[in-house]
Order: sequence, then C-alpha cells, then structure tokens
Amino acid sequence: MTHSLKDQTVLITGGGSGIGRLLALGAAERGARVMLWDLSAEAAESVREEIVGAGYHAEAYAVDVSDRDAVKAAAKKTGAVDVVINNAGVVTGKNLLDASDEAIERTIRVNTLALFWVTRAFLGDMIMNRRGTVVTISSAAGLVGVAKQTDYSASKFAAFGFAESLRVELSKANTGVNSLVVCPYFISTGMFEGVQTKYPLLLPILTPEYVVQKTLTAIEKGRHQLIMPRFVNFVSPARVLPARWFDKLMNQLGVNNTMDHFVGRAKQVAQKVPTQAATADEPRANRSTRDPETAAAPAPKATSAPRRSWRARVACRRRHLGDLPRHRSSRLRRNHWNRDPARRPSH
Ligand SMILES: NC(=O)c1ccc[n+]([C@@H]2O[C@H](COP(=O)([O-])OP(=O)(O)OC[C@H]3O[C@@H](n4cnc5c(N)ncnc54)[C@H](O)[C@@H]3O)[C@@H](O)[C@H]2O)c1
Repeated sequence: MTHSLKDQTVLITGGGSGIGRLLALGAAERGARVMLWDLSAEAAESVREEIVGAGYHAEAYAVDVSDRDAVKAAAKKTGAVDVVINNAGVVTGKNLLDASDEAIERTIRVNTLALFWVTRAFLGDMIMNRRGTVVTISSAAGLVGVAKQTDYSASKFAAFGFAESLRVELSKANTGVNSLVVCPYFISTGMFEGVQTKYPLLLPILTPEYVVQKTLTAIEKGRHQLIMPRFVNFVSPARVLPARWFDKLMNQLGVNNTMDHFVGRAKQVAQKVPTQAATADEPRANRSTRDPETAAAPAPKATSAPRRSWRARVACRRRHLGDLPRHRSSRLRRNHWNRDPARRPSH
C-alpha cells in the first residue's frame, strides 16, 4: 500500500545529523510536517531552523530514545504521527573484550530497545487511523556478523527481527500499517569514519543522499524491505553454505577487515581535515573508504596531477553513465553521451 508523505506527520529519531537530518529535509521537501528527536538539543534545533528556513514545517525535541520515560513524555508533546523513522543509532567499533560494559549497554539500548519504546508510543494511533509506516533503520550488519561489531551487529540483527515480526503482526491483524526495514552498507556520514571497503564496485560506501532518497521512496511505495547496495542481497542465499565456507566468502569480500581502521565520530574531528582534503597523494587505504563518487570527482586540472587509479576511473565512468544500466553495450553508452555530451567523461 502506498503512503505519500504529503501532509503527513513524520517523526525522525536521531534527526540532528547524518541520514536523520537528510531524511528530515527530504520528507519536508515531499510535503511532510517533520518532528525531529535527537539526544542533542542543539543539533535538532539547527536542523529545525534549516527546514523552517526553507519554508517547511518542523519541530525539534531533545529526547534520549533509550530512556523509556523520556520517550513517553516526548510522545505526549509531539502528538500522533503518521510515519515513525527509527533512525537514532550508535556504534562502539571495538573487539568484544576491548569494549566497555557501558558502551555495549548503550548500543543495545539505543539501537534496539529504543525501537520498542518509540514505536509503542505511536503505533496505537496509527492502528486507530488504519494508516501509518514504521521505518527501522537496521544495517547490512543486521544481516551478517562483522568483526569488531559484536554489539552493533547484535543490535542491528535484533532491529531486523523487530521490523520483520512487526510487519507480519501488523499485516496479520490487517491494520493498514506498514513496517519497512532498511539495511544499508556503510554510509559516508562520519559515524563509521575510517572503514574501508575492498570491492567498491560491489560494495561501495554509500552516500547519505542516495540512502535517503531510496528510503523516502520506499516509504512512499509501501515497500517492506530495502537492502543497499543490491549485492548485499546475496548474503541470505549464501547462508546455505556451511558456516566455515560462509566466513571464508565474507573474508574474501573483505567484510571482516572493513573495521580495521575504524575511528568513528570520536576521532573524526581530528582526522577531518586530511580526509576532506584527500588528494591523490593520500594512502590508498584511505581512498577506498571514501565514496566512489567523491573519489571520482573531477580533479582540478593541474599538469602535475598524477594519473587516477582504475577504480577511480571506473567509478567516474559509472557516475557519468548515470541512469544507464551497466550491462548495456558500449555503443548504447556512446549514443547516450552523444545525446547529452555533458555526461561524457573528460578522459
Ligand atoms: N553510517 C553508516 O555507515 C550506517 C550504515 C548502516 C546503518 N546505519 C544506521 O543509520 C542510522 C543513522 O546513522 P548516521 O550515519 O546518520 O549516524 P549519525 O551519528 O550521523 O546520526 C545518529 C544520530 O542519532 C542521535 N542519537 C544517538 N543516540 C541517541 C539517543 N540515545 N537518543 C536520541 N538520538 C540519539 C545522534 O545525536 C545523531 O544525531 C543509525 O541507526 C545507524 O546505525 C548507519
């Protein structure tokens, strides 16, 4: 069942930064009234100002979604909503024995338990109105366990189970309310600063804009599940393999090395300058952590600029081809460029 966001009230937890902020801006642009919840009052307020400044409606509330009583109190102030986007999340990024008890508990409380408190606060009204969507932002780490993500992956597997159980429960009772689960691979928001991907063509680090556009469209289309990029869909069929082979396959894909250089938000500020100003001189490992589109952005035309890697050139080519499916022949691609020469790669 479709669910246009026009004139709908959309609650976004963790709306103060990253994809939460972009989901809020995107929902507002699609005509929704946006309710922003975030642990940081300042961050939520700044996004509210951004949305209101653009001529749309938004309200901001400082809420710790892992605090059951705080959620109940904030839900009273917020009133009924049509869409709940459970987006707030945290990551520890350490081996099990290196993570503190507090960090592990926080991950489970924010990424998993909060789903219950927030959804329960609004679901009754949605069912009464026979309309609504509950969105759970899980992760590709909710489909496959990853080294250095014991708490995060456990919390996101739980999030996936929560959303799936809710979906069948709501459908069985014919409530008219949908449950959508979103499982993206790494996104370049800074939450996972430092992660690397071995095969950026198969498993690219996603841009927040891409994830947000896909998520909002999935809500409007009434979809139940959104897994990005598509290659991640192969995780489920690969589960027929014995665990040892499955692990070998994931190792081969580099999945268990993605977190080797993770720094996350904690050290991100210190590292931000070199990351943003990354040039062809930066270490190869760092380049693969950046979004292929960013990595492939045309470099300033300096005669001394070193030749870009084949990966960067392939990513650039893909960017220029845009909506043209990759399996199309090169003649079709040439025609595509001829129709719109602006899209032709400059090399
Ligand atoms: N960034 C990625 O690579 C990635 C990949 C897959 C899934 N996800 C998931 O997407 C969601 C958003 O990620 P992001 O990259 O935008 O992260 P982010 O760190 O940019 O944003 C998370 C937001 O949640 C808020 N938050 C944290 N704890 C909270 C709490 N207790 N109560 C209320 N708000 C709280 C933070 O203040 C922040 O504004 C998370 O659930 C994350 O697990 C992220």
